[in-house]
Amino acid sequence: MTSMTERHKTLEKNVTLLGVCALVAVAIGGIVEIAPLFWIDNTIEKVEGMRPYTPLEQAGRDIYVREGCYVCHSQMIRPFRDETERYGHYSLAAESMYDHPFQWGSKRTGPDLARVGGKYSDGWHVQHLTDPESVVPESVMPKYGFLAKNALEVPDIAANLTALRHVGVPYSDKDVAMAAADLKAQADPEADQGDFAARYPKAQVRDFDGDPGRLTEMDALVAYLQVLGTMVDVNGAAAQEELAAEHGR
Ligand code: HEC
Repeated sequence: MTSMTERHKTLEKNVTLLGVCALVAVAIGGIVEIAPLFWIDNTIEKVEGMRPYTPLEQAGRDIYVREGCYVCHSQMIRPFRDETERYGHYSLAAESMYDHPFQWGSKRTGPDLARVGGKYSDGWHVQHLTDPESVVPESVMPKYGFLAKNALEVPDIAANLTALRHVGVPYSDKDVAMAAADLKAQADPEADQGDFAARYPKAQVRDFDGDPGRLTEMDALVAYLQVLGTMVDVNGAAAQEELAAEHGR
């Protein structure tokens, strides 16, 4: 018998030694995968244009989650031709960096919504959410007309932003202080906007639900839908990402 098989026999017969060696072997694999993450600040490349949601968009997002829209809709366009031709540019990691929890999803009873912002008018969304079959006759989507009746009630939007700040969303002190006012002002072009536009670049300010007299859950949800996928100039940003990857950053 060669000494190699001899040594292997010793290993196989000693359960403690075998256990220790197995642990070492597995740990090497683990360290190789995990260790690099300790030395990079962020696994997500920052891209230009990405900003936290406005209080109204965030409130709309909370309604989206509350109503379980994610049960039928994903928000992640995969880099396959059949998806990009239907939904637009594939989603970038940075585009969901302020989503807590993310809405990627894996179930598509309805279409992906990652780039639905700007695809339809506000009026279309209100009509569609109120009675989907009235605009898409074969639709199986439930009716959400009650959202237009419900006044938007967020007990403490500043607390919501503060909670998001704890998990890394970069809201400023001013954003938090102004949260309640911003929430109302975004759906009311007549209101004093302060420096809202400077703090939330490209935020859309208007009445979203077709009822300027009231701030409803419909206002918030439509504001959210209309911002989806619109913050980043994706073609430019994707090119940047690819360049960074090539340079091994
Ligand atoms: C039971 C599954 C289901 C649920 C739940 C659901 N939807 Fe849909 N949704 C669909 C289907 C199916 C379609 C495609 C037909 C249509 O346009 O109505 C659709 C279409 C859409 C569209 C149009 C997308 C496009 O690109 O044409 C939007 C926007 C949308 N849904 C938003 C929502 C929102 C917001 C919610 C939650 C309040 C929601 N959906 C909940 C099934 C669902």
